[in-house]
Amino acid sequence: MERANEDRLIQPDEKTLTYDKYLKIHELLSLQQELSEPKEHDETLFIIIHQSYELWFKQILHEVLRCQSLLDRDEILPVLRSMKRIDTIQKVLIQKVDILETMAPDEFNRFRDRLNPASGFQSHQFRILEYKLGLKNKGYFKYHQHEPDTLAKLEKTLKEPSLYDSFFAFLARQGYQVPEEVLQRDLTQPHQANPKVVDIFEDIYRNHLNHYEIYSFLESLVDLDEQFTIWRYRHMLMVSRMIGSLTGTGGSLGAKYLATTLEKTLFPEIWNVRNQLGVKK
Ligand code: HEM
Repeated sequence: MERANEDRLIQPDEKTLTYDKYLKIHELLSLQQELSEPKEHDETLFIIIHQSYELWFKQILHEVLRCQSLLDRDEILPVLRSMKRIDTIQKVLIQKVDILETMAPDEFNRFRDRLNPASGFQSHQFRILEYKLGLKNKGYFKYHQHEPDTLAKLEKTLKEPSLYDSFFAFLARQGYQVPEEVLQRDLTQPHQANPKVVDIFEDIYRNHLNHYEIYSFLESLVDLDEQFTIWRYRHMLMVSRMIGSLTGTGGSLGAKYLATTLEKTLFPEIWNVRNQLGVKK
C-alpha cells in the first residue's frame, strides 16, 4: 500500500540541507531594517519593494550577460528564450508599482525624511543595466566616488560591449554588412543611430521569413525598450502621486526630472526602421 503523504515527507536534522539554509532565509529576513522611530507601518513595504526590485535587476543582468555570451558563440535561438524571460520580468516590475501606490502620500511622508538623501537615482545596478543596454554615460561615476567597489564595477561595464554591440558583432559574422563605424565604435560612448543599420533592419523585416530568428530578436529588443520606458513612465506617475512636484530625496527636480528620462531610447534603429517600413516598396 502506498505510504501516506505525511510519512513520505523528509524530517530534516541539523545536517540536512533545508529550504531556509539553501535560500538563506534568516539572513534575507534580517535585511529589512526600518529607520523610522517609532516604527512607521509602511516603511517595511518601501524597503521590501526596493530590495525586490534590486533582486530582479540582478536577474535581468544575469540574462543579458547570458544573451551576450550566446551571441558571441553565434547561438541565437536560446537568446530568444532569455529575452522572453526578461520581458516577463519587466512586466512584473511594472506591475509592482501598483503595490507601492497602495501607500498614500501622508503615509510616505511620515518616514520620507529618514531616508534623505538616499534615492533610487543611486541604484548602481540600474546604471549597470542602462550601460549594458547601451545608455553609456560616465556622468554617473561621481555619485559613487565614495564606494570604490561599485565605482570599479561601473567603470568596467562602461568599457564593455552592450547587448546591442554583441548583436552587431554577431550580425557581421553572419554576413550582414554592418558598417565599420558601428563595429569599431568607442564603447564608452552611447551608440549613435546609423542609417546603414536601418537599411539592414529594413531588409530583415521585409524578408523576415528568410531571417526569422534575427527578426524575432529585433522584435524582442523593441519589447525590452518599450517595457523599459513604460517602467520609467509608471515610476514617474507614482512619484507625482506620492510627492507632487517636490524635489526628490536625491536632489533632482523630482517628477520633472524623471519626465526627461522618458526620451531615452535603447535601440534607436529598431524604432527608425518603422518609418521606412511604413512606405510601400
Ligand atoms: C515612494 C516611492 C518612490 C519615490 C517617491 C521615488 C522618487 C524618485 C525621485 C524623485 C527620483 C529622481 C531622483 C531624486 O531626486 O531622488 C527617483 C529616481 C529613481 N528611482 Fe525612485 N522613487 C520611488 C520608488 C522607487 C522604486 C521602488 C524604485 C525601484 C528600484 C526606484 C528606482 C529609481 C531609479 C532607478 C531612479 C533613477 C531614474 C533615472 O535617473 O533614470 N524608485 N525616484
